Amino acid sequence: MKPSLAVSPTEHPDVAAPELELSLGASRSWRFGVDLFEDVTSASFTRWIKTHLNDHRILVVMTPTVYRLYSQQLSACWSVLDVEPRVFVLACTEITKSIDAVMAVCRQAQEADIDRRGVLVSIGGGVCSDIVGLAASLLRRGISHVRIPTTLIGQVDAGIGLKGGVNFGVLKSYIGCFYPPKAVAVIPTFLRTLSEDGILQGIAEIVKLACVCDSALFEDVEATVTDLTRTRFQEPEAVAKKVLRRSISGMLTQLSENPFETVTLERAVDFGHTLSHPLEAATGYQLHHGFAVAIDIAFSAILASRLSLITEREALRIVHLLTNAGLPIYHAKLDGSLVEGAFDATKKHRNGALNLVVPTGIGRHTFVKDTNCLSMSLIGETIEYLQKASHTTARLPVDDAIRNQHENARNALRL
Ligand SMILES: NC(=O)c1ccc[n+]([C@@H]2O[C@H](COP(=O)([O-])OP(=O)(O)OC[C@H]3O[C@@H](n4cnc5c(N)ncnc54)[C@H](O)[C@@H]3O)[C@@H](O)[C@H]2O)c1
Repeated sequence: MKPSLAVSPTEHPDVAAPELELSLGASRSWRFGVDLFEDVTSASFTRWIKTHLNDHRILVVMTPTVYRLYSQQLSACWSVLDVEPRVFVLACTEITKSIDAVMAVCRQAQEADIDRRGVLVSIGGGVCSDIVGLAASLLRRGISHVRIPTTLIGQVDAGIGLKGGVNFGVLKSYIGCFYPPKAVAVIPTFLRTLSEDGILQGIAEIVKLACVCDSALFEDVEATVTDLTRTRFQEPEAVAKKVLRRSISGMLTQLSENPFETVTLERAVDFGHTLSHPLEAATGYQLHHGFAVAIDIAFSAILASRLSLITEREALRIVHLLTNAGLPIYHAKLDGSLVEGAFDATKKHRNGALNLVVPTGIGRHTFVKDTNCLSMSLIGETIEYLQKASHTTARLPVDDAIRNQHENARNALRL
């Protein structure tokens, strides 16, 4: 491709044509597998460890909680390796998710004498894999990394994608990279020790995908969300596995169509990720990412129904799924100026277009391209609706609305 010049040589004879025009183009192909295993102790997982990690210098990064709960079981896995890995326990929270944490991983890698063939392994939630992925992209201009996500968000979203990143001031994931892992192992039994909140945060990401891409997934979650949360995604076993598999394959399909976000800036999986980032930051990261995503989903669904892009019934069904699961749909920091600021920041990130993802039905979506149709009064009404619906008593009308609709449908069938 010829470079475009601001002035042409004929207009400015002093600007001589280059004697020689050379260029270099390169592309790198990549592929990684996401493999599911029954348990940390299963023989197939041990084989996976050996395949991906043997004969390399390894730095394993895990969070204090994961270390406390799983280091013993994991040490049996390391015993199949010729060289024992170095283990680094790093506190990974949204507040410590900064370039300092990345540097701490790099220092440990240096001390462990990690060479170009070395591999970093992250075992933890999305914060851990985001920090380790970024460190791997920087060390020796890029070494391999392997992910073993231990949270639900990690297993269905953060840990199976190809992004790493950290926060910078109030800007979430402002410093980051697209840097695919070498391999990912998903082990659902890790979820047994998650808190209820930990499961709910992951459910918010699953609902995100289901709302815009997969109505069958939505129905499965809608029917079993209480059991899935109570049993930490262990029971009903068949549904839990199905929901995990569908979420992972749905996410991978979405990512494979636009892995480096160069094909389009219209991404269905950005649903729930427009207000959520500034909302998290506005709460000093006290509000967890998954909860902020749930609020953003509810906002976008109600906004879409007010724009007549989705029926009121379907929008309420989405909100009802969130509230029924126990997810928040409102936060006191959600106001008109936060939404306005979020739209401005999003436009900068999406090359001038808002591309707000909104559902047009269960499992379908469209993009609201600009802010012209989004008046401040419409935004205010939407927030007010969510505030009222979020109170326990005000949840009833939402439930009632859904129940009434089901009742009507049943009556219609009887007729
Ligand atoms: N890179 C991406 O594409 C992407 C996508 C989605 C989310 N994210 C990021 O992921 C982060 C959220 O990730 P998260 O929800 O995993 O939270 P998290 O990483 O903050 O982990 C939450 C807590 O759970 C603990 N924990 C981990 N596994 C556990 C287990 N099995 N049992 C008990 N406790 C356990 C951790 O020690 C941690 O204290 C956010 O920073 C978000 O921005 C990134």
